[in-house]
Amino acid sequence: MSYADVYQSWKNDPEAYWMAQADAIDWVTPPSKALFAENAPLYEWFKDAQVNTCWNAVDRHVEAGRGDRTAIIYDSPVTETVRHISYGELKEQVASLAGALTAKGVTTGDRVIIYMPMVPEALVAMLACARIGAIHSVVFGGFASNELAVRIDDATPKAIIAGSCGIEPGRIVEYKPLLDGAIELAHHKPEFTVIFQRDQAVAPLKAGFDFDWAALQKDAAPVDCVPVSGDHPAYILYTSGTTGAPKGVVRPTAGHLVALNWTMKNIYDVDPGDVFWAASDVGWVVGHSYICYAPLVAGNTTVVFEGKPVGTPDAGTFWRVIQDHNVKSFFTAPTAFRAVKRVDPDGEFIKKYDLSGLNTIYLAGERADPDTIEWMQDKLGKPVLDHWWQTETGYTIAGNPWGIEKMPVKIGSPTVAMPGYDVQILDEGGNEMPAGELGAIAIKLPLPPGTLPTLWNAEERFLKSYLNTFPGYYETGDAGMIDEDGYLYIMARTDDVINVAGHRLSTGGMEEVLAGHPDVAECAVIGVADALKGQLPMGFLCLSNGVNRPHEEIVAEVIQRVRDQIGPVAAFKLALVVDRLPKTRSGKILRATMAAIADGRDYKMPATIDDPAILDELTEALTAVGYPQG
Ligand code: COA
Ligand code: AMP
Repeated sequence: MSYADVYQSWKNDPEAYWMAQADAIDWVTPPSKALFAENAPLYEWFKDAQVNTCWNAVDRHVEAGRGDRTAIIYDSPVTETVRHISYGELKEQVASLAGALTAKGVTTGDRVIIYMPMVPEALVAMLACARIGAIHSVVFGGFASNELAVRIDDATPKAIIAGSCGIEPGRIVEYKPLLDGAIELAHHKPEFTVIFQRDQAVAPLKAGFDFDWAALQKDAAPVDCVPVSGDHPAYILYTSGTTGAPKGVVRPTAGHLVALNWTMKNIYDVDPGDVFWAASDVGWVVGHSYICYAPLVAGNTTVVFEGKPVGTPDAGTFWRVIQDHNVKSFFTAPTAFRAVKRVDPDGEFIKKYDLSGLNTIYLAGERADPDTIEWMQDKLGKPVLDHWWQTETGYTIAGNPWGIEKMPVKIGSPTVAMPGYDVQILDEGGNEMPAGELGAIAIKLPLPPGTLPTLWNAEERFLKSYLNTFPGYYETGDAGMIDEDGYLYIMARTDDVINVAGHRLSTGGMEEVLAGHPDVAECAVIGVADALKGQLPMGFLCLSNGVNRPHEEIVAEVIQRVRDQIGPVAAFKLALVVDRLPKTRSGKILRATMAAIADGRDYKMPATIDDPAILDELTEALTAVGYPQG
């Protein structure tokens, strides 16, 4: 069948389409129907089924006699380790950790925060939670204590599972002091922690509160999978929104299994047993879906890579991993390839490795710039497929359905809407716009299985953030257009979210940190274009009257504040002191105009601007520090 046929068959009868896909999942009790629309515009899928995620990701492969197949390849250039874990071994590890958690009172519906580096035990922890119906919430290791504390207070976990440290090039990041600091800051206190000790930094444990992973696992009786209902939250994953308070995206169990399993063949074109590698981090949605769950549910081998695209040890790392492990489909963010291209523009490292087993490369997480795609196509001679999705959806909204039909690649477009997604471009009044016109990208409700049914403990915020602006549609927060051939183009965010090295960050959150500095009266943070990371945050500070300390000192302090309170991942290193900020007459800061000036893009003078002269002052201040660049 062609893509058009498949898409049309979904459109003709979405429920029948998804019920057919659900056959690939092992149910304890199969769903009686696909869609539950009683609470529209809140929708749920496969709600009355009973199922277990871990069974589908691990046990069923062992039961089917494939226990010897490799489930996880751990490749860690930063510790010079390569380890293969079979499905059978994975089952043993997961069942015993799940047993340990159960023995300590963790049960279905309890939340467990996971704060781990890129080691296979991060997946073991996720799957152990899934095995007993506990709801995990993984927090990225590059976040500081304060961000972890915010998530502890929102998710109110019974337990926290953490690694003793992460390894960044040139430094060991000790997680335990960050974790202790977060628990200290949080109002909610977990009952206990489980610490996975690494030789690089063994953490001191508080007796009766911190438990050693290895000891717990050794003494635990393994437990079986606990069935949960189809709408049970598999996990909560926090993501950035407009304000500093992150949004807890809820992932529903049954839809997650059905949809992710569907993607492995239809989008990533891999079959059971093939090696699939997503070079991301378990702290992000790409890590949840494509390092952990989807490849395992589909019976693939997944690669857990602990390293960077460059410097661990060199710009050939990706190619070595692809060669050594016979990776068939490879997925990462464009920024990673920009990093490689910068160090190895002629692709000398590529020539050193045998990449004949690699079929296709997938990009997502940020806009894929044409230069990078063309460089990759040229140097690798393989298809490079952009695809667009979000934490909220958990998998592709628009992509090139390589396992269905290899559609022509148009550089600059992530290709076409996947079955399940009726993507529309809307004007401000919510009217559907014709091909070729720019507008807000929205998806007609209901969203397909596996996408967020709500935000954790925040239904009002869910409605306000996604459903209220355009009744009957989900608002993606992205703007763009669809061309005559149905190809989608993603142009910009419509909110204050920025994308730094493929990491989604809130400028509002950074502004809250800057505003907390005693000398700062007012501030704004915008995303400025960056050749490596796509965007970088830049802060503008207006100082309180009477402050006459050197500006460099204040700038250094706010940079440190963001690092301490949000974390190094914010990559906040640019800030300047200005007299005034451009605003509308009603006092709204004109951040989009500021970003256009910093990037040297054309902009329309906002009709509501209070004092246009401030834009000249801003241009001057930016020119003085070298913006716009190049
Ligand atoms: N734990 C602790 N610190 C971390 C961290 C982690 N898990 N991940 C990143 N950091 C730190 C980095 O060490 C860096 O600190 P520094 O300011 O002291 O140098 C800072 O956070 C910024 O990190 P990052 O933005 O990743 O920049 P980088 O210079 O270390 O690496 C890239 C740049 C492009 C190589 C890197 O971002 C990358 O590999 N990106 C791949 C894309 C990706 O994984 N995207 C996820 C969505 S698909
Ligand atoms: P995240 O939730 O971290 O996956 O970030 C999702 C956001 O990243 C989207 O809303 C887009 O703004 C951006 N994004 C993700 N993939 C792409 C892509 N292929 N092209 C352009 N932007 C993308």
